[in-house]
Amino acid sequence: MSSDHLHLNLFTMDSVEHVTVGSWRYPGDQSARYTDREYWTEVARTAERGGFDGIFFADVRGIYDVYGDSRETAIEKAVQTPSNDPAYVVPAMAEVTDHLGFAVTKSTSYNHPYQLARELSTLDHTTDGRVAFNIVTSYLESAAANLGLDERMEHDERYDRADEFMDVSYALWEDSWEDDAVVRDAESGTFTDPEKVHAIDHEGEYFDVPGPHGCEPSPQRTPVLYQAGSSDRGREFAAKNAEAVFVSQPTEEAVVDYVEDLRERAAGYGRDPDHLKFFPGIVPIVGETEELAEAKHESYKEHIDTEGVLALISGFVDMDLSELDPDQKLEHIETEAIQGVVNAFTSNDDREWTVREMAEFAGLGTTSPVVVGTPEQVADEFEYWFREVGVDGFNVKEVVRPDTLQDFVDLVVPELRERGLLREEYAGNTLRENLFGAGQTELHDDHPARQS
Ligand SMILES: Cc1cc2nc3c(=O)[nH]c(=O)nc-3n(C[C@H](O)[C@H](O)[C@H](O)COP(=O)(O)O)c2cc1C
Repeated sequence: MSSDHLHLNLFTMDSVEHVTVGSWRYPGDQSARYTDREYWTEVARTAERGGFDGIFFADVRGIYDVYGDSRETAIEKAVQTPSNDPAYVVPAMAEVTDHLGFAVTKSTSYNHPYQLARELSTLDHTTDGRVAFNIVTSYLESAAANLGLDERMEHDERYDRADEFMDVSYALWEDSWEDDAVVRDAESGTFTDPEKVHAIDHEGEYFDVPGPHGCEPSPQRTPVLYQAGSSDRGREFAAKNAEAVFVSQPTEEAVVDYVEDLRERAAGYGRDPDHLKFFPGIVPIVGETEELAEAKHESYKEHIDTEGVLALISGFVDMDLSELDPDQKLEHIETEAIQGVVNAFTSNDDREWTVREMAEFAGLGTTSPVVVGTPEQVADEFEYWFREVGVDGFNVKEVVRPDTLQDFVDLVVPELRERGLLREEYAGNTLRENLFGAGQTELHDDHPARQS
């Protein structure tokens, strides 16, 4: 743990269903309002009231069509489809908040770095420095076809492209415009001093980008960088680039090993290992009493749509789970998609999972632990992971929207604050300051983006 208090992200998606398939049918659930700007401004206000660092928006391109070799289940059950581009709700949410950050997922396989660097600089300007980029390489085959590729790139090659993508982005964000390039001198007629705006002249395997960057420096220059690599290649990428890392490991021991491994790898890139923050996912189900919390848990479970969950997981692991007998034990496979999800159900020595058991468990937040109890019991669990296991905070996953967030903010947040685990005030105005301390608006100097 490199933090003196807990950090929190709300884990969500600009879609009906994210990781709790079936919950849109729960009485009062508002997921279907994802197209409504006011839904998101309410979420933003609640998250800021609860001291959250940021709202994390997952995003995918393509449809989950691996299950049954068909897109039908995913479409019928709203499995991450339909979904909107999360970047466009961010300005509305920023308008009604002062400190909350916004992490948007963007793919290095399906974007061009010059274009994306511009979009993210713009968002960083419009939010006064509260934007993060969740760097993904994308795992769905169905996305490739829509975006002009014959097939999805091979796993490690996706990371090669991502490396070069980030080299270009860093050069645009960090090196192209000097701090004092913009002079706005009305008298002389010089808005920007051309001597202080530089080409980047990047010529590489995937991209040729002369530059310069089209945007003047935004408050954070480089947005805060989130990443979730779990393969060997992915870990190397995260160690080099990420400031916030999503942890998806099956056991406490595996989480500890993962954090240690990434910190060591980061040191290998000349980085202070404390400049990486680690966030596992967690699903809090809280009630004023144990009985109320248990009753909520039971009724949430009743709404899990196991077929929809199987469609989601089939896409995560790139394997058609409709071909398996529901009582068959899951076996370890190597996948080109998300290895961490396979490992969660096949690399835990304490337990073997059948297909049915996995679908029932994964219906509430996929691979993350579900914590059910009173505010004190849920806070105990958060405190344990923070103090004893050494994570910096959590991605709080929603079951029912917005009830999960509201319950958490109204019931658990006061308990965490009482214990001194959660701050009363934000450290600064930008997202990076809130994660790393007042004054740290730009990347740390030991980040590879600043080493050129
Ligand atoms: C918490 C978490 C959130 C993720 N969110 C997304 C996402 O929104 N979009 C996406 O394409 N991939 C997402 N991923 C997948 C990762 O980007 C990555 O592909 C995955 O962790 C596998 O890593 P690997 O490629 O190193 O095996 C997420 C993974 C985790 C653990």
